Amino acid sequence: MAKLGVNIDHVATIRQARGGAEPDPVAAAAIAELAGADGITIHLREDRRHIQDRDLRLLRQTVKTRLNLEMAATEEMVAIAMAVKPDMCTLVPEKRQELTTEGGLDVQLLLKTIAEAIAKLKDSGIVVSLFIDPDPDQVKAANKAGADFVEIHTGAFAEATGEKRQREELQKIENAIKLAAKLGLGVNAGHGLNYSNIKRLVRLGGIEEFNIGHAIISRAVLVGLDRAVREMVDLLSAVEAR
Ligand code: PXP
Repeated sequence: MAKLGVNIDHVATIRQARGGAEPDPVAAAAIAELAGADGITIHLREDRRHIQDRDLRLLRQTVKTRLNLEMAATEEMVAIAMAVKPDMCTLVPEKRQELTTEGGLDVQLLLKTIAEAIAKLKDSGIVVSLFIDPDPDQVKAANKAGADFVEIHTGAFAEATGEKRQREELQKIENAIKLAAKLGLGVNAGHGLNYSNIKRLVRLGGIEEFNIGHAIISRAVLVGLDRAVREMVDLLSAVEAR
C-alpha cells in the first residue's frame, strides 16, 4: 500500500493569519498520525510565511512516524536541517512571490549546488528527495546529483482538463516512475492531489508515498465545521446569563 505524508503547512497559515498560537501544527501532526498518516511534511520557507523554526524543532521531538522537511537548497536551510535532522529533506525550488511551489527543481541547471546540498544532508544521515517535474532529464540529473528519492510534481496532471490532457500528463508521470526505478531511485509524488484524482495515480503503482496538503486541510475545515459550530451552540445554551 502506498504511504501518506500529510502536509500541515496550511494549519500554520491559519495560525499566522492572527499571529497567535492556534491552531498549532504540532497538535495537527499528532492528530494526523493518530488517524493513520505515515509521515508529516512541512515546508520551512525562507520568508517563514507559515511553518516557523519552533514548529520544526517541536515536530522533530514529537513526530512518531517520519518527518519530511521541504526546503530550498540554500546554506541557511541546509544548516538548519543538519542541526535538526528530519528523517527526510525534500529539496524544492522557492520563489518569494509564489502562492505555493509552482514547478519542480531544475536539477540539470543547478546540479552542482544541489549535489553539494545532498552530500551534506546525507552525511548527516538524512534521506534526500528532489521535487521534480516528470521529465526524464530531471530524473537522470537527480540520480547524478546523488538523491535517494525523487518526488514527482503532479500539479500539471492535477490541473489538466479533459481526458486527453490528463492521459498525457499521467503518461509522463508513469515514464518518470519507470526511469527512476530503473536508476534505483525511490519515488514519491505530490501537489494538487485530492480525493478524486489520487485514484489514477495509485493505479499506476511504483509510488511509495503521496504528500498531500491542501485537499486534506480543506476537507478538514468542511467536515470539522459542523462539530465546531455544534460545540459552540451547546456552550451558549449550557451557560446561564447572570
Ligand atoms: N509536495 C511538495 C514538494 C510541495 O511543495 C507541496 C505543497 O506544499 C505538496 C507536496 C502538497 O501539495 P498540495 O498542498 O497541493 O497537496
